[in-house]
Amino acid sequence: ALILQELLVLAFLSFSSFFLLIDSSQGQFPIVQNMTVTEGGIVNLTCRVEHNDNTSLQWSNPAQQTLFFGDKKALRDNRIELVRATSQELTISISEVTLADEGMYTCSLFTMPVKTAKAFLTVLGMPKKPEINGLTKPVMEGDQITLTCVTSGSKPAADVRWFKNEKEVKGAKEVNASGKTFTVKSSLQLQVNRHDDGVAYTCRVDHMALTATHEETTQVLEVHYAPYVEIKHSIPAPLEGQYLKLECVPHGNPSPDPVLWTKDGGELPDLDRVIVEGRELTFMALNKTDNGTYRCEATNHLGTSHAEYKLVVKDAPTTSSPSTTSPAPTLPDTTGPLDSKHLNSAVTGNRDPNALPGPPDHALIGGIVAVVVFATLCLIIVLGRYLARHKGTYLTNEAKGADDAPDADTAIINADGNHAHAEEKKEYFI
Ligand SMILES: *[C@@H]1O[C@H](CO)[C@@H](O)[C@H](O)[C@H]1NC(C)=O
Ligand SMILES: *[C@@H]1O[C@H](CO)[C@@H](O)[C@H](O)[C@H]1NC(C)=O
Ligand SMILES: *[C@@H]1O[C@H](CO)[C@@H](O)[C@H](O)[C@H]1NC(C)=O
Ligand SMILES: *[C@@H]1O[C@H](CO)[C@@H](O)[C@H](O)[C@H]1NC(C)=O
Ligand SMILES: *[C@@H]1O[C@H](CO)[C@@H](O)[C@H](O)[C@H]1NC(C)=O
Ligand SMILES: *[C@@H]1O[C@H](CO)[C@@H](O)[C@H](O)[C@H]1NC(C)=O
Repeated sequence: ALILQELLVLAFLSFSSFFLLIDSSQGQFPIVQNMTVTEGGIVNLTCRVEHNDNTSLQWSNPAQQTLFFGDKKALRDNRIELVRATSQELTISISEVTLADEGMYTCSLFTMPVKTAKAFLTVLGMPKKPEINGLTKPVMEGDQITLTCVTSGSKPAADVRWFKNEKEVKGAKEVNASGKTFTVKSSLQLQVNRHDDGVAYTCRVDHMALTATHEETTQVLEVHYAPYVEIKHSIPAPLEGQYLKLECVPHGNPSPDPVLWTKDGGELPDLDRVIVEGRELTFMALNKTDNGTYRCEATNHLGTSHAEYKLVVKDAPTTSSPSTTSPAPTLPDTTGPLDSKHLNSAVTGNRDPNALPGPPDHALIGGIVAVVVFATLCLIIVLGRYLARHKGTYLTNEAKGADDAPDADTAIINADGNHAHAEEKKEYFI
């Protein structure tokens, strides 16, 4: 029974392999591939038969019209051409592809019965360059605008994105089909402010027909706004005698007219007090009479704006003794009879913003001098006492022979001779 079973299995196996062999030797069947092409492009449709006995091949279009029967052209269409016709292959090409060419193409092998294979040709619609609408130039600050970006002709629908200076911002997308293609719109609502001036909005279209690239359109916003003003000052807490520069910086679009400086609502003081050069107002040396409110005003056709700077000139710091009231440094007092020219330069020199303030200088020098004098005095006292105590020894060591000795050893040797005499001398003194 076992042998019988084995025989049966063997028989079955050989039978099936025989059947397969028959099938592959007689296996005449066409092989095709689905294709994708962008409209306007060119595509090859290839039909292959592995083992063919000169049986004819044919390509027909979605409308069931025969395009090529073997190497014979069947349809009058200049865009359709023969590429290769052998017993194993029939390849045709379609150029200037349109969306209407999309569909199922059939390759037929005229065996008995006829064998067919179907290839779907997908035609991609190329999106048109995006168009940005809704932007007026210039835009007024505070206006609400809606930018729309539209691209038509894409198939499948294109991807539309917005970028504000390279950074993506979310828009509202809307897709409409028109025939076989799609129109894609993305809207962006903006409340425009001055910071949008000069900002670039880019609409970018990505699509599979745009391999390794994309289409984009950019619009730069121009925002008009009334000016605003800021005043920059060269030093934070101005002191009498210091140099001070105020700079008026107007911002506005269109650019404001030249700025206007006023003091306490009136004219600026005389030119010898203050120098005005365009946006800059300069005090060479501040005086307490300069304090007040300085106003800078900028105007464009959209409006006027101003900024104010309240100047309160503080006392220049006084000398080492911190007397609060005396604004003048003690320099004139101590120098006594000094001609006015000299005094003036000394004072202005003292008030040069780049120079260190005078009083700390004096205090420092005074301190150093005191320390040096004290140290010298101490040294003198100590030395004096030391000398008085050890006069004998001192003298002995400074022996005559040591004086002209070239080095220490020689000095000691030279001094040795006088040693006894020295002892004697020391004893005598003490
Ligand atoms: C079509 O086939 C021909 C011949 O093989 C080749 O030269 C050509 O580049 C092909 N065209 C396309 C679009 O693949
Ligand atoms: C195919 O046809 C050619 C001539 O047209 C002939 O020489 C060849 O033997 C044929 N092949 C087969 C397998 O019939
Ligand atoms: C070819 O395209 C058709 C229609 O889109 C689809 O049904 C079929 O599965 C595709 N065949 C291959 C091999 O991708
Ligand atoms: C899409 O269709 C709607 C309604 O038909 C229309 O209001 C809208 O403007 C269309 N959008 C585009 C981008 O064509
Ligand atoms: C400040 O101005 C007044 C009046 O012009 C003048 O008398 C005074 O000397 C000035 N003070 C200084 C420190 O320059
Ligand atoms: C200058 O400041 C003093 C106090 O420091 C004040 O009394 C005076 O009114 C100020 N002058 C101006 C013009 O503001």
